[in-house]
Amino acid sequence: MQAATPSRTALRVALRRAAHQIYDAPPLVLDDPIAVPILGETYAEELRRTPTRPDRPFSVGLRAFLVARSRYAEDLLALAVSRGVTQYVLLGAGLDTFAHRNPYPQLRIFEVDHPATQQWKRELLAGGHLPAPSNLTYAPVDFEIQLLPEQLRAAGFDETSPTLFAWLGVVPYLTLEAFRATLGVIAAQPAGSGVVLDYGQPRSALPFLEKLAHDSLASRVQLAGEPFQLFFTPEEIAGELTAFRKIEDLGSTEINARYFTGRTDNLKVLGTAGRLLSAWIE
Ligand SMILES: C[S@@+](CC[C@H](N)C(=O)[O-])C[C@H]1O[C@@H](n2cnc3c(N)ncnc32)[C@H](O)[C@@H]1O
Repeated sequence: MQAATPSRTALRVALRRAAHQIYDAPPLVLDDPIAVPILGETYAEELRRTPTRPDRPFSVGLRAFLVARSRYAEDLLALAVSRGVTQYVLLGAGLDTFAHRNPYPQLRIFEVDHPATQQWKRELLAGGHLPAPSNLTYAPVDFEIQLLPEQLRAAGFDETSPTLFAWLGVVPYLTLEAFRATLGVIAAQPAGSGVVLDYGQPRSALPFLEKLAHDSLASRVQLAGEPFQLFFTPEEIAGELTAFRKIEDLGSTEINARYFTGRTDNLKVLGTAGRLLSAWIE
């Protein structure tokens, strides 16, 4: 991404989480009372223009995927905390609001993000009178040029405590080298640690109509200055995860079964492109 500019894709994801709070039928898949306030007046007009029409299935399917991935991460965090995880690291945190809704008083949270995105988020929070909780620490890092362990250590991260890493909406924007370097850092954490991430399948693995949807999304993120760079098939990403155990890799069928059954609206994940994955160190 561009060095001095906050992430546009982080804004677009946050707009869709906020739209979910306003437009989708209850029960919400991701109940996030901070999703709208964090955008404030600055983005109120963009939120009004965020596509929600039910006759635009691609847009509905994308919103479903985005709320499901945050919900999945937070469900896994609940499990991890019950098993002794004491730290939660959001890699590429964007406008994620979990730290402001955290129900676990003992949990230490580290938000790692590109410096320009993090500064912008902090300005939005200040503008919305949303103070940072005391157990949240910001760690500005550019994954392409800075070493994550050093920046985490400087932020007070404890490498001897089990940690869950959330890496949502970031993998497709990285080089393979940066992906592997960060995964290596996670793999070096103590037993009980884990990672939750989403990834996209390569265009060549998609059916024809999904290739068109992929091209449309790819050109929009390219225009936003954050081109897609990295895709995996499930087999390929499994090959990257040899240091991990208890790998769960969910496609749309499994995601819909878990989070979107019995709804009165048509909110659900479509297609085969996006997948959610978690993996643990034993
Ligand atoms: C699509 S947003 C997702 C944000 C957030 N995880 C969410 O789900 O709302 C992508 C995030 O990755 C971050 N990012 C992309 N490339 C990065 C890099 N090289 N170093 C650090 N952060 C990066 C952006 O700043 C942005 O916050």
